[in-house]
Amino acid sequence: MADIATIVRDVADEMAALTDRGEVATYIPPLAHVDPRQFGLCIVTADGAVHMAGEAEEPFSIQSVSKVFALTQALGKVGDTLWRRVGREPSGTPFNSIVQLEREQGIPRNPFINAGALVVSDVNLAGHEPRVAIGELLRFIRYLAEDDTILIDEIVARAEQETGFRNIALANYMKAFGNLTHSPPLTLGVYFHQCAIAMSCRQLAMAGRYLMLGGLHSPGGPRVVSAQRARRINALMLTCGHYDASGDFAFRVGLPGKSGVGGGILAIAPGRASIAVWSPGLNENGNSKLGTAALERIAEATGWSVFSQAEQGLSRPASS
Ligand code: DON
Repeated sequence: MADIATIVRDVADEMAALTDRGEVATYIPPLAHVDPRQFGLCIVTADGAVHMAGEAEEPFSIQSVSKVFALTQALGKVGDTLWRRVGREPSGTPFNSIVQLEREQGIPRNPFINAGALVVSDVNLAGHEPRVAIGELLRFIRYLAEDDTILIDEIVARAEQETGFRNIALANYMKAFGNLTHSPPLTLGVYFHQCAIAMSCRQLAMAGRYLMLGGLHSPGGPRVVSAQRARRINALMLTCGHYDASGDFAFRVGLPGKSGVGGGILAIAPGRASIAVWSPGLNENGNSKLGTAALERIAEATGWSVFSQAEQGLSRPASS
């Protein structure tokens, strides 16, 4: 295997040469103005080394990638009782779908579709003003990334509030089933603000280290979650992190991953690396087009797929 620095540079060069970069999300107006030519990549390995290429230091709207950190926070508060209110199954539907909620009595399929993430926000809101709940999540992410400069983009948060009619519908619908404890506007306020957190690839890859390190904050650092919880969050990322494209992402990349409509993806190679990639153009499923392609190349070049024999220390076949 080539060294990681070479792989990062080669993948970034390869992505720079591609012309079909997908379409930026337009339903949240400020995202429509992001330059689709941008590409950033950061890999933090288990020994703490940081490798970057492209616009890896440029902040972008993390959107649904925030659902990983919000889920971690909610599990810290209520533990496994969360699973009485949210399922753990892939939905096979788009991120903002409402169709399953009626048949399944307002219990979302998983914490990464919007309905599930709204329940998670409702849990994180308990006992707090929305402002305090979102401040707590921001502080948690800053702690994970070791970076106090991470901010919420208020313009994005406001735009989501003004245009988030589907999310408003989902929240009201679940409230009718008794699966939100707060008033929908309060829960939605927390959710919209977590989606509007802006981070660079470097900050995101740093924040994801606990999922590569069996729950440790950093190599040899304090424990953030148990090894079992880190493993389970990774399992949910693998099975549900890309919505109705989760199967395709597992097939192409083979790593737990969570996407956002801002074009970011956090992918975890357990025991090996925390990887953040960003390119604002999306594919037909609403996931970063070049981000997915880059991760596919990285998985191929490193053998880091959770389905690979190399991951278990066995020899790799000469060709696949
Ligand atoms: O709720 C929304 O529509 C956005 N704030 C987040 C959606 C998103 O990132 C979906 N993931 N790919």
